[in-house]
Amino acid sequence: MDIKALAEKYEPYIVERRRYYHSCPELSNEEKETSAQIRHDLEAMRIAVREVPGCYGLVADIRGGSQGATVALRADMDALPIKEDTGLPFASKNEGRMHACGHDNHVAMLLGAAQILNEVKAELHGTVRLLVQPAEEVATGALDMLKGGALDGVSAIYGAHVWGNFDAPLIDVTPGSRMACCDKFTIEVEGVAAHASAPHLGVDAITVSAAIINNLQQCVSRMNDPLNPLVLTIGFIEGGPRWNVISNRVRMEGTVRTFDEDLSKSEIMRRIIEDTAAAFGAKGTLEYKRLTPPLINGSDKLNAIAHEAVVKLYGEQAVGHMPTMMGSEDFPWLSDGGRIPYIFAFIGSRNQGKDITYTNHHEKYTVDEGILKRGAAVMAQFAADFLASA
Ligand code: NI
Repeated sequence: MDIKALAEKYEPYIVERRRYYHSCPELSNEEKETSAQIRHDLEAMRIAVREVPGCYGLVADIRGGSQGATVALRADMDALPIKEDTGLPFASKNEGRMHACGHDNHVAMLLGAAQILNEVKAELHGTVRLLVQPAEEVATGALDMLKGGALDGVSAIYGAHVWGNFDAPLIDVTPGSRMACCDKFTIEVEGVAAHASAPHLGVDAITVSAAIINNLQQCVSRMNDPLNPLVLTIGFIEGGPRWNVISNRVRMEGTVRTFDEDLSKSEIMRRIIEDTAAAFGAKGTLEYKRLTPPLINGSDKLNAIAHEAVVKLYGEQAVGHMPTMMGSEDFPWLSDGGRIPYIFAFIGSRNQGKDITYTNHHEKYTVDEGILKRGAAVMAQFAADFLASA
C-alpha cells in the first residue's frame, strides 16, 4: 500500500474539511454540530459510526481484511472561547469561538487517515478504531471516552497535535517525557479572628499562609529530584475581611506540573501545609486533584513504529525534535492508567516564509496547510504498521 500517494490524492479533501471545521468551532462539551458533521463525513465513506454515551464523542471501526489487534487513532474536536483575528476567508463564523488550538486540523487529518485506511482496508491485519474526542480543553473528554467504552479492546493509541512554535513540516515522535501532568489544588487555612491591634489574641491566617507559600517551594528546591522537572504555582489567594482585622481564613488555589505518574508530591505538600499551620495554631487543609496525567511516550515498540513511519514516508529530514513541555494534554487518560500503550506526536505548523508564526491559543493562530496530508499519512502508516507487527 502506498500511503504517501494516497495522502497526496486526498490532500484537497483534507484541506477542504479543515477549512470547513475551522469555520464553525464549538466549545468543549458543546460539540453537537461538529460531532454530527464528522459522523456524516465518516458515513459518507461507508464507515459505521457509534456515539460514545455521556458525551459528543464518536467511535468508528475500519475492519481490515484479516483478523488482528485494534489500534486507535485519536482526534480532539473542541475549540476555545477566543475571538478569531486571522482574517482568513474561512475564519470562525461563531462569534467569540475559535479553533485556536488547531483541533480543526486534528479532525481533518483523522478524516484523511480514514479515507486512506478505508481504501487499503483489505490489506490491514486487524481493526483501526477512529476516536473523535470532545472537551480536551477542559480535560474531561478523554476520560469520558474511556468511561464510555471507546477504548475497549484497543491495544495501542496514536495521537498528535499541531504546534505553532515548531517548524512545518517537521514531525516530532520523541520518546520519553513530552508534556507534564496538570494537577490542581486548593489550600484552606483556618485561623482565629481578632482586632488587628491585638494579634496575640487571634491566629493570623494570612501570616500562616505566607509561611505555607514559602515552605511549599522547599518541595521543589529540596524535596524533588532536580532531574525531574517540577513547577508549583499558587495563582489565586484570597482572605481577610478588612485592613484592621486579623484574618481567620485564607483560600489559595494553584497547580503542580511534573512528570510523576503518582501523586507523591501531594503527600509532601499536605504534610507541609498541615504541619506549618499547626506550628502557629492554625488548621491547614489540602484538596488535590489530577486533571491530566503526564504525557510520556514510554513504549519502545510504538516509538520505533512511529519513527519508522515518518522516515518511510518523508525521510529522516522530516523528523524534528520538540523540547519537553510543562503544558499538558488530556490524551494520557485514554491509556486507562497505563494499560494501553500510546504514542503522541507533534506536527510543526509554523512557517515563517508564509508568515505563519503565531502560537496555539493565539487569536491569529493558523497552520501551514501543507502539513495536513503528512499528518494524515503518518497516522495511517502508524496504524497499518502497528497492526502488521501486532
Ligand atoms: Ni490542543
